[in-house]
Amino acid sequence: MKRLKKVSFDGLDLSCQMGRVHLDNPVLTAAGTSGHGAELADYFDISLLGAVVTKSVAIFSTPGNPAPRLAPLSVGMLNSVGLQGDGIKDWLDTDLPALKRAGAKIICSIWGRTVEDFAEAMKILSTAKKDILAAEVNVSCPNVEDAGKLFAYSPSKTGEIAGAVKDFDVPFFIKLSPAASDLVKVAGAALENGAQGLVLVNTMPAMAIDIYERKPKLGAVSGGLSGRALHPVALKAVYDCRKAFPDASIIGVGGIGHGKDAIAMMMAGANAVEVGTATFANPKAPINVLREIGQFCFEEGLQKLSDIVGVAFSD
Ligand SMILES: Cc1cc2nc3c(=O)[nH]c(=O)nc-3n(C[C@H](O)[C@H](O)[C@H](O)COP(=O)(O)O)c2cc1C
Repeated sequence: MKRLKKVSFDGLDLSCQMGRVHLDNPVLTAAGTSGHGAELADYFDISLLGAVVTKSVAIFSTPGNPAPRLAPLSVGMLNSVGLQGDGIKDWLDTDLPALKRAGAKIICSIWGRTVEDFAEAMKILSTAKKDILAAEVNVSCPNVEDAGKLFAYSPSKTGEIAGAVKDFDVPFFIKLSPAASDLVKVAGAALENGAQGLVLVNTMPAMAIDIYERKPKLGAVSGGLSGRALHPVALKAVYDCRKAFPDASIIGVGGIGHGKDAIAMMMAGANAVEVGTATFANPKAPINVLREIGQFCFEEGLQKLSDIVGVAFSD
């Protein structure tokens, strides 16, 4: 297979600084959409990406939800994978070495069912802090101590999690839900309690019905909507949070399938972007997005990509 060895645009600065985290370029994978480790390395050189964000891992293993877990839609995709995985210790032993061998810059996504689960996961992850750029803290998961409501719906719970993971000397971004009734307030609680930045957004609660089978398409009945339909929702989340927090580091995610989607997300205020569902249709989507961003800068005569961050706010 002919592989892309290098993404190079002479004189163009694609780099991105988010607090302590430096990225050579702003294109990342989205958690859970490219396996647990180096799976995408079969398709392109993953060391060329700004970073690879892993599937969320917890201190425990989980079998995930009943099948079917994926339902393609004309406007994107539904999934109810349910954070299936073998846990963080297994990830450190098997997936982390594979990512390192592939030369990837790594952001490890963690999750939990209680605040203590998050703190313990970050403590374990911190034993590998020299091997990772940062952690992504996925609070868009059910809080078993609060009737299964997502942590990400609550400013106080999100703030508590940020406070509980901040003392392990690992920079972290908090990943929020587009379904929070006051997203800006939740984001504020994350930033006030030590988050390096925000990841906006996770999937939107949704469902689909198979009208011939007369039942929900997903085994878990409902799941999360991702892909094209989520793009305008993610854009607004990024725009609203950029407006409220002009200096925050923000990673935009939702329905990015092409360079122009990524550019729109950056103009709305994202410093970096993640590519998720598009990878299911084309495993090279993240590297293609990077190449297309470079092409756009070339066409528009831009020297420094970060100059476009938040330009949608200018008159
Ligand atoms: C199959 C699948 C699995 C996912 N797993 C995770 C996960 O483990 N952790 C997480 O934070 N987000 C997870 N997500 C959400 C994505 O990271 C992303 O936020 C969402 O899909 C929106 O981006 P997209 O439209 O580019 O896919 C998953 C999404 C899909 C489609």
